[in-house]
Amino acid sequence: MTRQSAPDPADSNHTTRMAQVNTLLNPRFYTTDFDALDAMSVEAVRGEWDALIDELAEDGNKRHFKRENGIADWNAQPLDELPAKLAEELVDFLVSSLTAEFSGCVLYAEMKRRGSNPDICALFRYMARDESRHAGFINDALKDYGLGINLGFLTREKQYTFFQPKFIFYATYLSEKIGYARYITIYRHLQRHPERCFHPIFNWFEQWCSDEFRHGEAFALLMRADPKLTSGLNARWMRFFQIAVYATMYIRDHKRPAFFDAIGIGPKEYAHKVFAITNEVSKQVFPSLPDLGDDRFWTRLEKLRLRSEAIDAAKAAGGLARAKILLLAARAAAQFAALYFARPLANTPPAASRLQPAW
Ligand SMILES: [Fe+2]
Ligand SMILES: [Fe+2]
Repeated sequence: MTRQSAPDPADSNHTTRMAQVNTLLNPRFYTTDFDALDAMSVEAVRGEWDALIDELAEDGNKRHFKRENGIADWNAQPLDELPAKLAEELVDFLVSSLTAEFSGCVLYAEMKRRGSNPDICALFRYMARDESRHAGFINDALKDYGLGINLGFLTREKQYTFFQPKFIFYATYLSEKIGYARYITIYRHLQRHPERCFHPIFNWFEQWCSDEFRHGEAFALLMRADPKLTSGLNARWMRFFQIAVYATMYIRDHKRPAFFDAIGIGPKEYAHKVFAITNEVSKQVFPSLPDLGDDRFWTRLEKLRLRSEAIDAAKAAGGLARAKILLLAARAAAQFAALYFARPLANTPPAASRLQPAW
């Protein structure tokens, strides 16, 4: 008997707990100063804003997140027929993707609920709609395995991280755009290697990622609506978030070797492709970009990853003096600082920022 036909509530509780855990690398839930966000004016980018809202209202992906929509047959292999490590990493991938999608849903829905600014409320209502579909679609994939996450419980019990609106813009812009780049890179790769498509959800990624792209466009406009947000000290904060988001993805993906092996793309090659797309897209609003052409960027990233792994190993082994872990953490922080202080590529964003998902 497969786990599909016999959902195990204990396992389902386990995935809910996985989603609930807050570590440096796990997707978080955010809360913000909703009044400040509600007070934002988008007049400076009115034409582009209205066009984007019209696009969101059209809801081109309304019928996309259904299994019977002509894209492909939904024939998920039973989890216990996959190699054990791959099954574990697939579940980890689904849980962390769901947490990220649902994190957006919770934040956007809350903004829409609390706001009174019609521009802001319209945007966040549409984005909450999209993220709710995305999260629900992934949760259905987990439910196939009896591993569905209790989203109501998660909303109540997961810790929320407070960020000022500008930090929400930087972090969420990057997570939407890198989300786009991640989904489209896997989709394009599997188009070329269909025999590697070991789970049906990948077939949905092409149209899916156009939603994420659009959400990123909205945050680009919000940032461009107020030039202070992308200049001066804030430009340094933007750089901090770029490095943090890239490093987090790089370290986390390396924890899924069987997953990437099954798809047939290494986590390093994947990072090169995803960061190149994200850098290219970010030119629409970021005043500088990490220099991906400098080998030292990749060397430092790899050192940071190895130090992060050393910390994990030390914690898992236990019995180590706390001082040793602190020393390892200091070394990891030094690598992060080296990435942050390396000379970035300067960039002058164009006068109008709207882009289409052309990758
Ligand atoms: Fe999403
Ligand atoms: Fe999104």
